[in-house]
Amino acid sequence: MSGETRVASDKSISHRSIIFGSLAEGMTHIEGFLEAEDTLATLQAFRSLGVKIDQHGNGRVDIHGVGLHGLKPASQPLDLGNSGTSMRLLCGLLAAQNFDSILTGDASLSQRPMQRVTKPLAEMGASIETSSAGTAPLKITGHSLLHGIDYPMQIASAQVKSCLLLAGLYANGTTTITEPAPTRDHTERMLKGFGYPLQRQGSQISIRGQQGVLSPISIDVPGDISSAAFFLVGAAISPDSDVLLKHVGINPTRTGIIDILGLMGADIQLLNQQQIGGELVADIHVRNTPLTGIEIPESLVPLAIDEFPAVFIAAACAQGETVLSGAAELRVKESDRIQVMADGLKILNIDAEPTVDGIRIIGGQITGGDIDSHGDHRIAMAFSIAGLRASSAIEIQRCDNVQTSFPDFADIARHLGLNVQTFGES
Ligand code: S3P
Repeated sequence: MSGETRVASDKSISHRSIIFGSLAEGMTHIEGFLEAEDTLATLQAFRSLGVKIDQHGNGRVDIHGVGLHGLKPASQPLDLGNSGTSMRLLCGLLAAQNFDSILTGDASLSQRPMQRVTKPLAEMGASIETSSAGTAPLKITGHSLLHGIDYPMQIASAQVKSCLLLAGLYANGTTTITEPAPTRDHTERMLKGFGYPLQRQGSQISIRGQQGVLSPISIDVPGDISSAAFFLVGAAISPDSDVLLKHVGINPTRTGIIDILGLMGADIQLLNQQQIGGELVADIHVRNTPLTGIEIPESLVPLAIDEFPAVFIAAACAQGETVLSGAAELRVKESDRIQVMADGLKILNIDAEPTVDGIRIIGGQITGGDIDSHGDHRIAMAFSIAGLRASSAIEIQRCDNVQTSFPDFADIARHLGLNVQTFGES
């Protein structure tokens, strides 16, 4: 792989820019909004909640914010497609409104655990019905006056934290969340950017409800390090590669992938670092070097939570064994990423053994084969990158959901030198 490119804009920041822009008093301008299915599901949901949002193309979006109390009931259930972030964050926000809402999703999202948000929201006084399995559809009864709680999170989840901060904005008193490990902090940064006070003390974040309004701002969304991850691994594993990824977000709660690849021996440099709108951004330069298997430090797991499909491909190309533990959360992502990656790697002749909360992978020669991505965007993109080192073609099934986070993936991958073709429905 060689050349330079920008990758898809950051999905987490794009979701939040729509949410907080809608709740601000006046016009928020966004540059670099990610126009992909997940973030468009959030955008469409806020239109259904009565917010006027203008899309000007090329990631330029204007939001006519309605203020914290200006949302209107949607006339139909809000369909959030494949997007866990949309469902969990909206659940917290809508639990605090004075109208009812129903949240639905696709087959994958309808199997993902929602009690991690509905239980603490119920402690705050919210009224939300799930299926008997604790999954969507979520039936939210509004008109509840929420009150702040002290909540020690059992799992390190930015979605749970953000959900409770959104509910906490409206609650009586203070909501305090304690994180078992640091997770992405875009919500906190953006709330501060919109002028709403928030306190952090060590692993605790506190928000006092009803403390004022959100003032509109301009937001420049950087590239998504989770999308960059596929090319970081691609360039690291394929001979003579030299790739420059421009304007990528390097928020310290997201850079676990750089640390993990660095421990494996990858040659990655951060250039032109700057702070833009409260987020750190850099160009990332990566060159091919031999990789070695490692025991991945558990402290890096939440900081690289979405990048493990790509990391497992790096491990398959490394000398020796890579061991991951403390990553049970991977089993409840868009697919069971431990099992689905292990199954796929075995088809490609790589020794990969799933464990309860991780995987062991021994590097070797990747062969060709037929892989089922289980409709998981990151699994599909990870196995495409494996093609750089495969002895024959890899065919990957059910790739449509690449549209949820990185619609231009195949074009950009081809531009950098990957021989990839797409077939069938987009
Ligand atoms: C996200 C948080 C993470 C991540 C997801 C996006 C967010 O989920 O996997 O893709 O934007 O807050 P968890 O909080 O469930 O770990």
